[in-house]
Amino acid sequence: MLDSRALPKAELHLHIEGTLEPEMLFTLAERNGVKPKYPTIEALRKAYDFTDLQSFLDVYYEGMRVLRTTEDFRDLTIAYFERVSTQGVRHAELFFDPQAHLDRGLGFETFLDGIWEGAREAERRFGITSHLIMCFLRDLSAQSAMATLDAALPYRERIVGVGLDSAEVGNPPTKFATVFDRARAEGFLTVAHAGEEGPPEFIWEALDVLHVARVDHGVRCIEDQQLVDRLRRQRVPLTVCPLSNVRLRVVPDLAHHPLKRMLDLGLVATINSDDPAYFGGYVGDNFFQTAAALKLSDEELVTVARNSFEASFIDDVSKRRYLKELESATDAARA
Ligand code: HPA
Ligand code: ZN
Repeated sequence: MLDSRALPKAELHLHIEGTLEPEMLFTLAERNGVKPKYPTIEALRKAYDFTDLQSFLDVYYEGMRVLRTTEDFRDLTIAYFERVSTQGVRHAELFFDPQAHLDRGLGFETFLDGIWEGAREAERRFGITSHLIMCFLRDLSAQSAMATLDAALPYRERIVGVGLDSAEVGNPPTKFATVFDRARAEGFLTVAHAGEEGPPEFIWEALDVLHVARVDHGVRCIEDQQLVDRLRRQRVPLTVCPLSNVRLRVVPDLAHHPLKRMLDLGLVATINSDDPAYFGGYVGDNFFQTAAALKLSDEELVTVARNSFEASFIDDVSKRRYLKELESATDAARA
C-alpha cells in the first residue's frame, strides 16, 4: 500500500504565518518582549476551537504579533520546510500576508528577506524548491491592496504571484478587479481564495474578473453544475485543504468532505494544509487522514499528487523531474 504521507508532492496552499506553532510563538514572544494574549500554551491551544473562518482569523492575526524581525521570519520558514521534508514535499508555494505586517509597522524587506532567506536555506538543506505568493487581505480596501502592490514592486523578482485571502463573505473578488489587472500587467500570476465560505459566484468572479490560474479552496463549486463543467473543461486547479475545512466548519467532518466527489467529477483537485499549526496537520497528514476517511484508492492519491506538480508554477524541466520522481515512487510501492 502507498504511504500517502511520504508520497512526493507539491504544497500549493500554505500560509507561512499559519505555520507558527505555539512553542515557537512563546519563544519569539520572549525574544521580542511581546506579551501574548494567551498566557500559556494550554490556554492558546484552547483558543483553537474555531467556529468559522473569522474566529480563526482573530487568533491567527493575534499570533503573528510575535513576528518582528527578519530572523523571526527566517526561523519560521525553515521550521516549516524542516517539518514537511519528512512528508514528501518537493516543492511549496508559500502565501504571505504583507498587510498584516506592514500595518504593525514592519518594513516590507523585514518579512520578505526573512521568508526568502529561509526558503533559500531550506532548498540547500532539504532540496525543496519554492515560490512566494503575496496575498491581499480582502477585508481591507482595494486602495490598501494597491498600495501593497506598489510596495512589493522593488521585490518583483522574488514574488511569483498575488492572491486574495482573509474574510471572504462580504468581500467578493470584483472588489479587487483593478488591483489584479495591474498585478497581471506587472507580470504576476494570480490566484484567489474563493468558495471556501463564500458562494460559487465568487469562484466565477475569480475566474472571469481576476483571471486566476488556480482557485484556493473552491470546495463550494460542487453546488453549481455549470461551474463544475467549466472548471473541469478548463482544468482549473483547486487547492483543497481538508483539515482546514473541518476545523473552520466548512464541512462537518472528513468523511463528509467533497474531495472524493470532486475527483469523481474530473476536477483537478490538490490536497494542502492551509494553516497547519492551527488546523492539526501538515500536508502529509492531510493526505493520510483524508485518504482514510474517504477511502481514497492509491490511484486517486497518485492523481492528487500528480495534480499538485502539474498545477504548480515551477518551470517545465523541474515539473517533468518531479513527475518522474512520483512515477518511480509509485512503481516502487507497487513492486
Ligand atoms: N482563508 C482565508 N484567509 C486565510 C486563510 C483561509 O483559510 N488562512 C489564512 N488566511
Ligand atoms: Zn488559505
